[in-house]
Amino acid sequence: MNIKTRPSRFFWIMLFTLWAINLQSQESPKSNVEDIYQNLCMSCHVSGAVGGSLTDKQWSYGGSDDEIFQSIKNGKEEKGMVPFSSLLTDEQIRGIVVYIRELESRDSSESIPNDQLENVVKTQYHSYKVEVLTTGFRTPWSLAFLPDGRKLVTERLGPIHIVNSDNTLNPNPIDNTPNVIFDGPEGGMMDIALHPNYKKNGWIYLAFADGWRDENGRSKSQTAIVRGRIKNHKWVDQEWIYKADPKFYMRSGAHYGTRIAFDKGYIYFVIGERGAMGQAQDLTLPNGKIFRLYDDGRIPADNPFIKNPDVPKGIWSYGHRNPQGLVVDEKHNIYATEHGARGGDEFNLILEGRNYGWPIITHGINYNGQPITSITEKEGMEQPLLQWTPSIAPCGLTQYKGSKFSKWKNDFFAGSLRAQELHRIRVVNGKVVQEEIILKGLGRIRDVRTGPDGYLYLLTDEPARLIRLVPSE
Ligand code: HEC
Repeated sequence: MNIKTRPSRFFWIMLFTLWAINLQSQESPKSNVEDIYQNLCMSCHVSGAVGGSLTDKQWSYGGSDDEIFQSIKNGKEEKGMVPFSSLLTDEQIRGIVVYIRELESRDSSESIPNDQLENVVKTQYHSYKVEVLTTGFRTPWSLAFLPDGRKLVTERLGPIHIVNSDNTLNPNPIDNTPNVIFDGPEGGMMDIALHPNYKKNGWIYLAFADGWRDENGRSKSQTAIVRGRIKNHKWVDQEWIYKADPKFYMRSGAHYGTRIAFDKGYIYFVIGERGAMGQAQDLTLPNGKIFRLYDDGRIPADNPFIKNPDVPKGIWSYGHRNPQGLVVDEKHNIYATEHGARGGDEFNLILEGRNYGWPIITHGINYNGQPITSITEKEGMEQPLLQWTPSIAPCGLTQYKGSKFSKWKNDFFAGSLRAQELHRIRVVNGKVVQEEIILKGLGRIRDVRTGPDGYLYLLTDEPARLIRLVPSE
């Protein structure tokens, strides 16, 4: 007699499908990726189970975002993987791809050892040592080099400090600097930059959260730019470069951007979408935009949206979430790093008048695990040169122009807050051809600059310090 003792694989698939359909119909359609993964995937996808681990970076059917998406959507029925196209929306499947990426990086062990303060760190092209130069800051945000060897450091809470040329911190901040608004972890005093002709004109530019508080202490604020000079330890000669119409000031304390960059007599700066994602696509609002003005605040007559009376005239590009790295290279190309949501951080080439897609296209999901969209590209919207999922929280960007690390010349260095990493990015003919994490775990990197002495300078918080990388071949 031929007794069949094991039910076929298809029996299990059917059983699972019925159970899953039942489960899905009980749940709200808003379930987050953690719950979906837990309920629908974990039974078969842990190491040892029928589907194997999804977080060991081993893929039988392709490991690109798109291939993983297809595996989940269409299944591999002959192998026992159910198609989820009828159970999950495309948005949810996209969200699971992001979640798998997060689990994957959590499980991976490829990190640089956390002893870089003492040891020589070897990277692909150069070995370096870390020098801690200055401590004693509270919340450092941005760094600028004065021609006499001193440095200026802004703190988010408002103060602007002078670091003496021997790298000791002058305990007294500059007097009379602008009032700033900060509610929560963002806003306040942000970027500081010297005019390219600083030696002649003495102009220093500041980007900060400008605003006011009502009698209940509730604030309204918006990103603003001023320039002024420092004389006898005092901020003087202040002029407004950009101040939004009061109707654009918001209660939100989030996503101000920003950075300042100069090129050919223009100033570029960023206003983040202020936590109102849809506003990044609304050209009548300043939020989620990169701006271009003349360095004295006048509006260039050839700005891309100048003819549209409803559009703030300084807008250069749109569809941004919260860029906090901005650089213009010697060929006048503009590069920016941008915080995505949960996943989908970006490194972009910023082109005149272009739409960078947030939140219509993104590689990320919401922080609560709910999907934003299933699409990562769309006609009329720019693709990033590079995207980071899971998020590294990019902050600070420099293009290395020094001579101390000859093989890094023209490479970009992007700092990151959450991942505490410094990424070296090589761009050739408009494409990223190399990316290397050269430093990790020395604090949240807030700013990265090439020093006039050719060393790479970093400003970190948690712990707050000014450090630099020096060659050690
Ligand atoms: C009934 C068991 C079962 C369930 C439930 C299940 N899978 Fe699978 N899955 C499999 C099997 C079996 C394979 C094929 C493994 C192989 O051939 O290596 C697979 C393959 C995959 C692959 C391709 C892996 C590769 O190596 O290329 C992905 C991606 C995947 N599953 C994702 C998911 C996700 C996400 C969920 C939950 C939404 C899920 N699976 C639920 C059984 C399952």
